[in-house]
Amino acid sequence: MTQVFVVRPWCLGVTLPLILAAVLHQGFATVAPTPTGPTTAPPHKDPERPDRGTYLVKNSNGTVCLLANMGLQLNISYNSISQNKTVQEIMNIKPNLTSNGSCEANTASLWLVMEAEKTNLTFVFSLNTTSKKYHLSDVSLTAAWPDMKEPFSAQNTSLDYMRGTLGSSYMCREEQTLDIAPTLSINTFQVQLQPFGVEGNQFGAAEECQLDEDDMLIPIIVGAALAGLVLIVLLAYLIGRKRSHAGYQTI
Ligand SMILES: *[C@@H]1O[C@H](CO)[C@@H](O)[C@H](O)[C@H]1NC(C)=O
Ligand SMILES: *[C@@H]1O[C@H](CO)[C@@H](O)[C@H](O)[C@H]1NC(C)=O
Ligand SMILES: *[C@@H]1O[C@H](CO)[C@@H](O)[C@H](O)[C@H]1NC(C)=O
Ligand SMILES: *[C@@H]1O[C@H](CO)[C@@H](O)[C@H](O)[C@H]1NC(C)=O
Repeated sequence: MTQVFVVRPWCLGVTLPLILAAVLHQGFATVAPTPTGPTTAPPHKDPERPDRGTYLVKNSNGTVCLLANMGLQLNISYNSISQNKTVQEIMNIKPNLTSNGSCEANTASLWLVMEAEKTNLTFVFSLNTTSKKYHLSDVSLTAAWPDMKEPFSAQNTSLDYMRGTLGSSYMCREEQTLDIAPTLSINTFQVQLQPFGVEGNQFGAAEECQLDEDDMLIPIIVGAALAGLVLIVLLAYLIGRKRSHAGYQTI
């Protein structure tokens, strides 16, 4: 009788932490970026993940005022000359672009111009000086590709993406889709950016995006549940042992 009680908790005591470790490991493994791109390859080019580029904007005095580290992928629909219909095209932004832009008290812009592709992508960030919060408020894209029936142009000036706090950087490891217009969305990969209050040409403390936090939450919840289970088994074992001891005494 006592032997059963001794063996059982010993087994569980070893296996549960193992299960816990396995689950946690799996949970964190999904957080790490998977190198797979979109599963349904678009008909044309660039189906793979974009490389991460480093883009920066400098003040007139030469110090960095906007800093961004991210992979960008455009998803455009346009009227194709060669196919004589509207087509959907994926295009990766080159990571080695020279970026440009401007920094003002409560707006900061980042321009990514790809001369050869006749593509001009602009991000505008706004800072609320009262709440000390910033966000991506405006994205515009112009493109004049050879296959376009007419030059492409899309803009949305009322966006609310990539929210952060002055002095901190915004971070999102997970892939995120920014819907700009019916004809344009942008997929972002492994983003860290800071449009205001950059000091010493470096990012401030990172504020993780909701997508990343949700991903971290799953292993934490599973871990807590398993820890609870271990505790219950341990209590049951202790209570059981007490009872069996009591049993011996009465006999
Ligand atoms: C591009 O946008 C279209 C239409 O919104 C969508 O169906 C498709 O999945 C998108 N492709 C990628 C790779 O994001
Ligand atoms: C790109 O767009 C921005 C904002 O629309 C504009 O200020 C800039 O001059 C453009 N650059 C080129 C090379 O067209
Ligand atoms: C700035 O933030 C304050 C406080 O949250 C808010 O009341 C105000 O409307 C915001 N201003 C703008 C221009 O969004
Ligand atoms: C701008 O983006 C927001 C959020 O994605 C969307 O609700 C709105 O319809 C867009 N406006 C235009 C003009 O496309």
